Amino acid sequence: MNARISEARASFQTALEKAQTDADLDQVRVQFLSRSGAIANLFEEMRSLPVAEKPALGKLLNVLKFEAQAAFDEKKRTLDASTVRGSDTVDLTLPGRPRPVGTKHPLMQTIDDIKRIFVSMGFSVATGPEIETDYYNFGALNFPADHPARDMQDTFFISKDILLRTHTSPVQIRTMEKQNPPVREIMPGRVYRNEAISARSLVSFYQIEGLYVDQGVTFSDLKGTLVAFARQFYGNDVRFKFRPTFFPFTEPSADMYISCFLCKGKGCRMCKQAGWLEILGSGMVHPHVLKNVGYDTEKYTGFAFGMGIERTASLRYGVDDLRLYYENDVRFLKQF
Ligand code: DAH
Repeated sequence: MNARISEARASFQTALEKAQTDADLDQVRVQFLSRSGAIANLFEEMRSLPVAEKPALGKLLNVLKFEAQAAFDEKKRTLDASTVRGSDTVDLTLPGRPRPVGTKHPLMQTIDDIKRIFVSMGFSVATGPEIETDYYNFGALNFPADHPARDMQDTFFISKDILLRTHTSPVQIRTMEKQNPPVREIMPGRVYRNEAISARSLVSFYQIEGLYVDQGVTFSDLKGTLVAFARQFYGNDVRFKFRPTFFPFTEPSADMYISCFLCKGKGCRMCKQAGWLEILGSGMVHPHVLKNVGYDTEKYTGFAFGMGIERTASLRYGVDDLRLYYENDVRFLKQF
């Protein structure tokens, strides 16, 4: 038995020395250290020997088992370390791998630019929830119940009274409920409409809303502010016009147009031969709206405006399909 133990030790050592890979090492483990391996077999054999021989042999076997395991562990450590080092070999003469740098999304760039211009004129920025009540989205904004004006915007209803906001105008109400005049806020955010998706319409898009309420605010303030904005955003040489329109929450209401900066008003594909581009809706805040938030309509007047960000960005960058903003194609996004 003594000889068999020495033999096992010798062949274990040889096998361990030869092992070069994880697979080799695993074979050594199975052959010698596993439950059916050579060392376990020797323990098994010892059980049938006379009791007198057992203590000495048991000791020898335990030493073998312990040393073999330690040698095995040590070998495994050096093998692991050398494979890590192996893959770590760096050829410093190779050029590095460039990491792509992301860019800000064109819609966010547009929002930031619009914000910057209005903030420089003394506006601050407010936001509101995308899930709204009928009251904030319609009622408080002077859309009477069952009034056809509600059909101007196809609404996603969550329940009878809860909906996805169709515009950022409800943030006007929330802002005015929280503070007294003067109010000078711009309110960017996402809005939702139940429309067929096409190059010209989306179910979800961004708007930016503006509101200025104080004593003595007039239509001239509206025009002066919006023209100052348009010149900074679209360029000093654009011409502009306001055309009467209807919104329930403003009276009077006006759409603002700028001369087409592509054809300078001559008529082209961009302006659909009109020479003019509609850039926003606006108007003097309807007294009903001011009343709904508890403002004194004898004392305060205000103007409001709203514009679509996708449309604004498209005018600016010449993008002719709104869906491109949401496809996350880096070939598109990289251009801005
Ligand atoms: N809420 C309008 C829309 O989504 C846009 C708008 C028009 C906002 C006139 C205003 C405004 O604040 O005064 O079509």
